[in-house]
Amino acid sequence: MNSRPRILLVGAYGQVGVELLRSFSDESEIIAHDRDTVDLADPDQVRAMVRAAAPDVILNAAAYTAVDRAESEPEQAMAVNAQAPGILAEEALRKGALLVHYSTDYVFDGSKTSPWLETDEPNPLNVYGASKLAGEQSIRQVGGKYLIFRTSWVYGPHGHNFLLTMLRLGRERESLDIVDDQFGAPTSSIELAHATHAIVSGVLAGQFGVASSWAGLCHMTCGGSVSWCGFARTIFARAQPLLDGKMPTVNPISSCEYPIPARRPQNSLLSNEKLRARFGVSLATWESALDEVLHRLTLSKQLACDSPIALI
Ligand SMILES: NC(=O)c1ccc[n+]([C@@H]2O[C@H](COP(=O)([O-])OP(=O)(O)OC[C@H]3O[C@@H](n4cnc5c(N)ncnc54)[C@H](OP(=O)(O)O)[C@@H]3O)[C@@H](O)[C@H]2O)c1
Repeated sequence: MNSRPRILLVGAYGQVGVELLRSFSDESEIIAHDRDTVDLADPDQVRAMVRAAAPDVILNAAAYTAVDRAESEPEQAMAVNAQAPGILAEEALRKGALLVHYSTDYVFDGSKTSPWLETDEPNPLNVYGASKLAGEQSIRQVGGKYLIFRTSWVYGPHGHNFLLTMLRLGRERESLDIVDDQFGAPTSSIELAHATHAIVSGVLAGQFGVASSWAGLCHMTCGGSVSWCGFARTIFARAQPLLDGKMPTVNPISSCEYPIPARRPQNSLLSNEKLRARFGVSLATWESALDEVLHRLTLSKQLACDSPIALI
């Protein structure tokens, strides 16, 4: 492996994609794609993209992530989340490249009372979860050098996510009703990118030995556990500089009181033991990760106020 690996980053404008670009750009040659340059639902475009890039590593941060819309667009969700990862795996195998892919806690039905293990049987409750599970299976069937990281409740300083929605609603409304009977580990895009970078760097440096000792599926989430309601309350308690002096009341409700098209698991907690044992990597607790994202958002806000030129 040369000292500057060629990295094909797919989904470069997404929450995780943007942070992967930040983490990898210093010491890698990055070829970045998103919807404006490739349609992942088109197998020919996916193949052509990989062959033109001739990468050492493929980082696939793209996905059809509209969980509720997927219920009425199952074909599109399957094309992007199941078929495209299979083609990426075939092309990675053909080139001898490493494929890194992300999956979700939504492959599980949430019925377990302790954190889910990689060996637990998936049973998705919604189309998005089924499409992501099919993506995992497509990659496993092809084999080769791959890493699948299952993560949960992703948010960050960029994109569409719970944190940014809460910050907007918190400025607009006096009170909010938030689901309090689903538990998980909010995981920041920054933490995910740092952990991915550490592991990929180790793999490329031969630190983890031959592929059979590291390739496969691992859970990768921030530490700790909270409900959506608890997460919202913590956001409002810690994000005062971003709320223009507002502090909405947060009312806990049950999932039944918040009807949406796709069912969600009640227990989304994933065990990170395998990640720790195999790679020696642990992500920050969800509270520390939240502070880091809020710090980044506060700095951007200050920068925008102090110097409009910085926004250009
Ligand atoms: N978000 C979560 O809470 C969560 C939880 C668990 C696991 N994950 C997994 O983590 C990974 C990263 O998620 P994320 O939150 O960063 O996703 P994201 O912010 O929604 O980004 C996904 C990117 O993929 C692009 N994309 C979607 N369909 C495409 C298509 N047909 N052709 C080309 N590009 C396409 C999107 O473009 P557009 O914006 O134009 O659609 C977007 O830039 C995904 O594998 C996801 O399943 C996410």
